[in-house]
Amino acid sequence: MRIIEHIEEMRSWSETERRAGRRIVLVPTMGSLHGGHLSLVRDGKRRGDRLVVSLFVNPTQFGPQEDYASYPRDFERDRGLLEREGTDVMFSPSAGEMYPAGHQSYVEVGKLGEQLCGVFRPGHFRGVATVVAKLFNIAQPHAAIFGEKDYQQLQVIRRMARDLNLGVEVVGHPTVRAPDGLALSSRNSYLSDAERQAALSLCRALNKAEALALAGEKESGRILDAARAEIEKEPLARIQYAKLCHPETLEDVEKIESEAVLALAVFVGKTRLIDNTVLKA
Ligand code: PAF
Repeated sequence: MRIIEHIEEMRSWSETERRAGRRIVLVPTMGSLHGGHLSLVRDGKRRGDRLVVSLFVNPTQFGPQEDYASYPRDFERDRGLLEREGTDVMFSPSAGEMYPAGHQSYVEVGKLGEQLCGVFRPGHFRGVATVVAKLFNIAQPHAAIFGEKDYQQLQVIRRMARDLNLGVEVVGHPTVRAPDGLALSSRNSYLSDAERQAALSLCRALNKAEALALAGEKESGRILDAARAEIEKEPLARIQYAKLCHPETLEDVEKIESEAVLALAVFVGKTRLIDNTVLKA
């Protein structure tokens, strides 16, 4: 596996591979890899001839009170895992390489980025869209894979790729869960044992909503009340939002027409977790 830290080297590697007719797949990550990332990596291996995995904790997507400084980082462990998975290139630029002095251009994503998490994390999706656009320009992939756990992020990136004609196929990959149902996330490492148990209330809420939708319930209010009630049983959990939205525009829906996304953001102790499921009418 080649480790590349500089933009020009990454770009020239990709240009050579493209000229040779090889299909490049990119899996963007912030490192601290878990089973969810490895599942994206394996999917990436199947979808192309060359696999690039980027490891970059992107400062522009963290708010001033958020965990940029303390975000888990373990370069050596990540390197070993990616090597074992047969990754061709690990792209791990420094913050200075990605945002040199004087950097001032950003990708604004519009309404899609202002809802759900965007209400509570202003500027977050602007940072995500900017870094992903930069990664697409640098690594020049034919396709890029993102986890569906970050449902809003996936929709924002899809929209951006379409709106800006980036020519990259944006692929969503199903959420990977621990055997007890907890969605895998780098931030799960912040949870104490008691908090991890309390965090299971998120998937219990999603399961409850799925069961109601399967039984024919379409009313948003009733589905959301049932989902919230599951989480409120946990004293360590505090709901930031629970919304039923249109799967592409992410606007609130009153009723499930054909599909709707139930999106949750919940604090468990000090850790903010998100999860979602797509409900079908
Ligand atoms: O999902 C993530 O890990 C990040 O938001 C991403 C897409 C790598 C951009 O920094």
